[in-house]
Amino acid sequence: MVLKRLNNSERMLEMREPRPLIALDFSSFDDVKSFLAQFPPEEKLYVKIGMELYYAVGPEIVRYVKGLGHSVFLDLKLHDIPNTVKSAMKVLSDLGVDMTNVHAAGGIEMMKAAREGLGKGPKLIAVTQLTSTSEEQMHDFQNIQTSLAESVVHYAKKTAEAGLDGVVCSAHEVEAIKSATSNDFVCLTPGIRPAGSAIGDQKRIMTPADARTIGSDYIVLGRPITRAEDPIAAYQAIKAEWNG
Ligand code: C5P
Repeated sequence: MVLKRLNNSERMLEMREPRPLIALDFSSFDDVKSFLAQFPPEEKLYVKIGMELYYAVGPEIVRYVKGLGHSVFLDLKLHDIPNTVKSAMKVLSDLGVDMTNVHAAGGIEMMKAAREGLGKGPKLIAVTQLTSTSEEQMHDFQNIQTSLAESVVHYAKKTAEAGLDGVVCSAHEVEAIKSATSNDFVCLTPGIRPAGSAIGDQKRIMTPADARTIGSDYIVLGRPITRAEDPIAAYQAIKAEWNG
């Protein structure tokens, strides 16, 4: 086998997931079924299933989506004592999820336990500071007296130390996180909007093309695809922009 030497930017692009992740922010099984039925069966998607859908439908939703051949990021943001998180991760691993996450605030031992429970196959990432947390809230409520950016980088470094694959972050934080950890450390970025599409309640957005340039590994979009008049055309356009 010939090993190809990759420079840093080639390596980052090689690791990048070429499919934009679609956030399945629906509350019923039927809505998911009719949304997915619009895509041709050979188009294998990577979808994000969040708390609302998972708690409304249960593990069956993961089995269904996996059964169609799609990949699943189960976004449940676990945060509990290490033993409980480890056992819960074992359950999610048996479900066949491709990626899931925890809150880095749960600590190094919790993150290591999560990795043990999930096993080596699926990707495991952490939430640092939620993007809904303001710096003022972080100072007053969490009593963390650094800047928000420093706290995000601190949690990212701890996440890497715990042996996790990466973090969920704003596309604006990717550069600082990668330089504090490594280029291989995965940055999954929501808050992505193609030029000209509705921003909704997102604040600091970035286009798929810019997210590619700054080194995001995974981008997540919900409404620009799920609420589009033609979701397939919207998905294909975003995918083309993301892949350059
Ligand atoms: O519809 P939209 O593209 O804004 O959906 C983005 C998805 O990513 C939603 O499921 C949202 O909950 C999630 N998310 C986010 N910002 C974060 C973490 C997750 O928008 N910081």
